[in-house]
Amino acid sequence: MTSTVAEFQTVAELNELTSVAVIGMGYVGLPTALGLHAGGVAVIGIDLSQNRLEAIRACEVDLIENDQRRLEKAVHQEDFQLTADASRMAEADAILVCVPTGLDEYLMPDLGPLESACAALVAHARPGQTLILTSTSYVGTSGRLLVKPLTAKGFKVGRDIFVASSPERIDPGNVTHTQAETPRVLGGVTPACTAMAQRVLNVLTPRVHLVSSPEAAELTKLYENTFRAVNIALANEFAEISDGFSLDPIEVIDAAASKPYGFMAFHPGPGVGGHCIPCDPHYLLWQLRATQNSAPLVTQAMRAIAERPGQVVDRVLNTLSRNGTGMAGARILVVGVTYKPGVQDVRSSSALDIIDLLAEKGATVGYYDPLAPNVRVTGGSLDSVVEPAGEDWDLALIHTVHPGQDYDWLGQCPIVIDATYRFDPALSAA
Ligand SMILES: NC(=O)c1ccc[n+]([C@@H]2O[C@H](COP(=O)([O-])OP(=O)(O)OC[C@H]3O[C@@H](n4cnc5c(N)ncnc54)[C@H](O)[C@@H]3O)[C@@H](O)[C@H]2O)c1
Repeated sequence: MTSTVAEFQTVAELNELTSVAVIGMGYVGLPTALGLHAGGVAVIGIDLSQNRLEAIRACEVDLIENDQRRLEKAVHQEDFQLTADASRMAEADAILVCVPTGLDEYLMPDLGPLESACAALVAHARPGQTLILTSTSYVGTSGRLLVKPLTAKGFKVGRDIFVASSPERIDPGNVTHTQAETPRVLGGVTPACTAMAQRVLNVLTPRVHLVSSPEAAELTKLYENTFRAVNIALANEFAEISDGFSLDPIEVIDAAASKPYGFMAFHPGPGVGGHCIPCDPHYLLWQLRATQNSAPLVTQAMRAIAERPGQVVDRVLNTLSRNGTGMAGARILVVGVTYKPGVQDVRSSSALDIIDLLAEKGATVGYYDPLAPNVRVTGGSLDSVVEPAGEDWDLALIHTVHPGQDYDWLGQCPIVIDATYRFDPALSAA
């Protein structure tokens, strides 16, 4: 079911939606807030981090060009407000929750930020508001963290207040798939909840795909990212298989992708990172464990993903050995450490595991990434080298290739391993 409101730019006005609060102004919340503001809605951006709020006010944040322009305009306008005061959400007609849903060190969901954001929502809720969870989470989150406590407080959900789930699909750094063109999946607790939430989402996009419940929306998001995780693991495995046959995995993938049905190309790489693929499938696995169920394929894929940095390091070791040297004392440069091209985000980046593993095996490791001047690794922090060309590296390991950067200097490195499998020296910006 896909519904379209043709004149979506005026939807806010038509439905008398005048203000929306966004809780969590991070990689997802900020572009969402800017999209709503550009659609004619007053925005109250709430974040408990003063540092983050200051960075937004100073426009020193990681955004695609269009959103950067929106921000530079919005910060000077009275109807775009930034605050750490959670009680301000009571002023809004609708509230979107975009707080992080990461993992702890045991790969268990870290529900602290979501629980506290929802507790604040319940504490400040007033009749007539529409509350939309957009953070990725386990099935039943909206029910447990919002519907139940709101009901206990005396609200009749679907009559006095409206609750829905619409997990974010935003792809930070991606200029191809805009918010306006990317359909939102939406499931409300009741049809009235769905309708009220749809009027909010229609400010962002005319493309809203309705499902029957918040739970269906929550599971849809877990399925989407689990699908990606499983296919990335398979692409990595196929890269190793191709290598065993001395074949180029990219040639094989491109050839398979010429089939117009039944195949979708995924590419091998050095590992995953960011806030989605390394995390989201664990929300599903955690929930299944609690109900004595299992998902062996997903479990295996996540194990393979966790092992991927180790395989990349083995590739480095084997290459050095073939060249008559070992890892001990080798000077290795990791090229690009953000988890994907074009962003500054190094959260859970496989590059950090790779740096740690190389150092553990005795290599002297440096890295070069103009988008990430400093990273935390085991034992402290590391700065990006400024001039990679001038130094005497034994091996360069390509982890992330940023658009518009000069990589010609790689030609001076005696050994280059391309863990992305798709580095094209001809596209270097020099
Ligand atoms: N980053 C992505 O690519 C992406 C894509 C789609 C969906 N998601 C999902 O969106 C959600 C947000 O992810 P993100 O990458 O934007 O996270 P983020 O870490 O970039 O931003 C979250 C922000 O929320 C703030 N915050 C935390 N707890 C808060 C609270 N109780 N009240 C107010 N502010 C609070 C933090 O200070 C931070 O600025 C997650 O559930 C994630 O899985 C992320």
